[in-house]
Amino acid sequence: MTYPDVRPRRLRQTAALRRLVGETTVSPRELVLPMFVKEGLTEPRPVASLPGVVQHSRESLRKAAAAAVEAGVGGLMLFGVPETRDPVGSGATDPDGILNVAIRDVAAEVGEATVVMGDLCLDEFTSHGHCGVLAADGSVDNDATLTRYAVMAVAQAVAGVHVVGLSGMMDGQVAVVRHALDAAGYPDVVVLAYAAKYASGFYGPFRDAVESTLTGDRRAYQQDPANGREALREVALDVSEGADIVMVKPALPYLDVISTVAAAVEVPVAAYQVSGEYAMVEAAAANGWLDRDRVMLETLTAIRRAGAQIILTYWAVEAARLLREAS
Ligand code: PBG
Repeated sequence: MTYPDVRPRRLRQTAALRRLVGETTVSPRELVLPMFVKEGLTEPRPVASLPGVVQHSRESLRKAAAAAVEAGVGGLMLFGVPETRDPVGSGATDPDGILNVAIRDVAAEVGEATVVMGDLCLDEFTSHGHCGVLAADGSVDNDATLTRYAVMAVAQAVAGVHVVGLSGMMDGQVAVVRHALDAAGYPDVVVLAYAAKYASGFYGPFRDAVESTLTGDRRAYQQDPANGREALREVALDVSEGADIVMVKPALPYLDVISTVAAAVEVPVAAYQVSGEYAMVEAAAANGWLDRDRVMLETLTAIRRAGAQIILTYWAVEAARLLREAS
């Protein structure tokens, strides 16, 4: 042994020491709960590939929103599942479309007690399942889609949304939506840009949750999992267009991206722990192969440690309760 004796384990001896020197904490206020609401449902319906997650009825959504606020979560991200779909996703811009109605319901129920967020993308509403409208050749028409996003953003603002979550990965979407909101008299609505969103296999269970009709894939607009530097380009563009918060998605397989993005920007960085990340832990835990609660908190801590300040997670309410018990 050399002197001085270097013993990192000295700081790990007791729970009290470990608590004192812990670098990263997760707080309920940093967690955002994604929620699904389906038009025409009278009872909530479980999503088979996401144990514990349901498609809500309007009524059960209000109750669950209130319970999430009670648990201390920082926000709610709403996704709508319409009864009918068409090529342009009319339900997304209809003031009586399920997502806009749900935003109104939740804003009335929990109001200023939390942050109400709406998914701003057409995929739940289009008959072909793509995030935008299609050109004659079947490709997603970027600029025609932007026009639809502008109308959708204003419809959500009218419904009372606090934050619009731009998840479509169209070029220029932040600038167009920001301009539309300002021009319509909603300069205070926050733009959360899914700046670095990858074309990921981890979205599988989400497609069940929204009954996606997509055939094919989204590789012509979402990012290639091979690319890290490209994420910085996307993020820089979104910030320059006026994004208030930027997001990286998925989270756990992209911790390096979260870390470099957090070092590069001054706006808050969010990460989306997506459906497949949740489902793989739930499935392993159901087999007795993982300690569910422990792994849940470990993944959230890892995402925070990488540099995300806000985490969207299907465990938001449960994790908030666990964290409260522990503190
Ligand atoms: C698109 C959207 C998707 C998710 C959130 N917003 C699906 C996709 O891009 O294919 C996935 C979220 C998850 O998997 O939990 N509106």
